[in-house]
Amino acid sequence: MSDSRLCLALDVPTTRDATEWVARTRGAFGVYKIGLELFCAEGREVIDAVRAAGAPAIFLDLKLHDIPRTVSRSVGRLVELGVDYLTIHTGGGGSMMEAAAETAGDRLRLLGVTVLTSLDEQELSGVGVAMTPAAAVLKRARLAIDSGVTGLVCSAQEAARLRDDLGAAPYLVTPGIRLAGSATGDQKRVMTPARAIAAGADLLVIGRTITAADDPERALRDLADDLRP
Ligand code: C5P
Repeated sequence: MSDSRLCLALDVPTTRDATEWVARTRGAFGVYKIGLELFCAEGREVIDAVRAAGAPAIFLDLKLHDIPRTVSRSVGRLVELGVDYLTIHTGGGGSMMEAAAETAGDRLRLLGVTVLTSLDEQELSGVGVAMTPAAAVLKRARLAIDSGVTGLVCSAQEAARLRDDLGAAPYLVTPGIRLAGSATGDQKRVMTPARAIAAGADLLVIGRTITAADDPERALRDLADDLRP
């Protein structure tokens, strides 16, 4: 049985690479994430192919941000394509999130992205947000939940704080996962899988820890060991 708490990030250039990783990791991940670059290159074909290769669920990471009608209609199209998880940007506002949530219903789980980790306080101020990133994350997370968006993407460090503030209900998705001893790459705030779950994460997004490992099969075993109770 694949682990429904684990998502593999298919940050690869082609459908073929993506389906090879699904086949190679079958049984380990309950969810497979298709990002903006891969979707721009391959379109709906990659969704169908990843599903056909055995992915139990598809996560499309497009971080939608537009007027409510456009986002809502796009969510409807993606429901038809069989997408199970979809990111939208909380910066689009409460009306946009409400419209998206209404269209999604219980057919697709919406995940709100709060503040991109590439933005620091100075960059936020440059776009007119006079707040620390941590304060903006909390404010936008509350708005997302109030707007009917039941999931949030956050770092594992933020997960503990959001759990304290928002309680048990929100579905928290955390990237930035690393096995003890693996390279952190460009991720600044990382956590091991077991610690992220203990911090309150519901779904761990894992990429290069597996896909850039010298020995991916061994990394998969290490991942399973780390999560073994
Ligand atoms: O390779 P790695 O495990 O760092 O991959 C993490 C995945 O999560 C990538 O697909 C990346 O786009 C995504 N992500 C992230 N940090 C965020 C939001 C999303 O790493 N703040």
